[in-house]
Formats: sequence, structure tokens, C-alpha cells
Amino acid sequence: MPTRRVFLYGLPTAALSVYGYTYHIEPRWLEDTQTEIVTGRKLPRPLRILHLSDLHAAAIVPISFLEEAFRRGLAMRPDIVCLTGDFVTTDNDFDPVRYEAALRMLSSACPTFAVAGNHDGGVWAAQSGWFPTSTYIRQMVARGGVRVLHNEATEVEVHGQRFSLVGVGDWWSDELRAPLAFGAVRDPSIPAIVLNHNPDGKADCYRYAWDLMLCGHTHGGQVMVPFYGPPVVPILDKRYAAGLNAFERRWIYTTRGVGNILGFRANCRPEISLLIVR
Ligand SMILES: [Fe+2]
Repeated sequence: MPTRRVFLYGLPTAALSVYGYTYHIEPRWLEDTQTEIVTGRKLPRPLRILHLSDLHAAAIVPISFLEEAFRRGLAMRPDIVCLTGDFVTTDNDFDPVRYEAALRMLSSACPTFAVAGNHDGGVWAAQSGWFPTSTYIRQMVARGGVRVLHNEATEVEVHGQRFSLVGVGDWWSDELRAPLAFGAVRDPSIPAIVLNHNPDGKADCYRYAWDLMLCGHTHGGQVMVPFYGPPVVPILDKRYAAGLNAFERRWIYTTRGVGNILGFRANCRPEISLLIVR
């Protein structure tokens, strides 16, 4: 009887296939994306930004996988690299020395900048007994040769053109200090790019002058249901779950991230984002 046979053999096989794909194939199946962005205050020559986020180094996201993502990202010939937080998942599931060495792969090839995310420490992480502030992770990332912008701004020159990079602390971590970060911008007439882990943090940043904000945090939802979208996205303003979206005549790019939590992804591959800003 086919119905019974389907029930006995078909369903368990299908379930095993879905499990195998979502836990063992898709989380390691990196997707290179390329997005062109025209900002309000224009850069005369295109700026190539490698935007990586949510690396989530842990037993389920080994450093060797992150190194593969770094290699592939650098092969896209970026001018600068921006890392938007969640370097780790918990406070005890990664090797800091190995991690620093991996980050040096990026920083020795390209000027590399970063901000911290909610998993890197602060009020949210402390609720799980992890780092009470992002200090430890920021120091580790800095030892990897990365310039960490924690409520700070810096001026960068690429192809003879200047722009500001503004980095803010994480919103859930209660480390976002927008007045401090934007107060450090030296020349408000040049384009400004903001690194901000959680797109909801724009609520604290919207009143300042900036052109493009780079975010992560959402993982794109990690699961994308066809014709519906991601069932769970940990942000209030769901419009900024993934990709390039407009915000008050500016742009926000939310990358789906490289790592994951809980080990699965479905129809929402890990992303290596190259942004070409004009
Ligand atoms: Fe994350």
C-alpha cells in the first residue's frame, strides 16, 4: 500500500534529508553578494567595502570556516573591511589566540574596522552569565590588528578621497552612545558610514548626519520560508531584516552574517557582502 510505505519510509527519509541539509550543508554554504549603493554625499571613486558580520565563533562555527570566509572576501578585492559584531556566541566556546591570528588575515591585507554586538558582552549577554561588557572581545579583536570603533569615529582615505567611519556600541548591550560617536566626527562635510550591529540602533543615530549604515544581528532570520519570509527576526523594525533598505534618504545594509547560532540555516545562506559605494 503506497500510503503506508510513504509513511514508513518516505517521511523519515525526507526528515533526515531536511535535517542533513539545514544542519550540515547550508550553514557552511557561503554566498558572495555584491551590492551597489549610491550615497547622498557622493564618493567620486567607487569604494569597495567587504562587510562581514555575526562570525559567532563557537564549536559549531569553527575558526577554519571563518578563515575560509575571510579568504573568499579578500578575493573580492575590497578597499576596506568592516566587521559589525557578534564575534562570538558565548564567553567560553572559542580560542582567543587562534581567533586573533585569523583576524590578522584580514587586517594584514586591508584596513579593517569593527564594532561589538550583543553576544560580545553587555547587558543582554550578562543575562546569560556571559561577558558583562564588550571589553574582552574588543581587546581580542584589536589584538588581531583590527581598529575597533567603540562609540568613536575616524577618518579614512581611499583612492585620495576621505570619508568618516563612525562605530557605535550595541543597542541591546546598552553600550550605544551616539553623541560620543558622532561627536568625534571631525569633518561633517564628507560622507559618513556608520557601523552599528543592530539595525534598531538607528533610533539613537537618526538625528546625526550619515549616509550609509552597516548592520548585522538578524542573520537574515536564519530560516526563510518561501512566499512568507523569516518567521523569527530579533528586531523591532522588521523592514531591516536583510539586504539594502532605504531609511530617511539614507541607506541601511543588513548582512545575513557568516556564522549562526544553534547550528542551522534554511533558505538563508551565510553571506559575504561586498558593497560598492559610489
Ligand atoms: Fe548574531
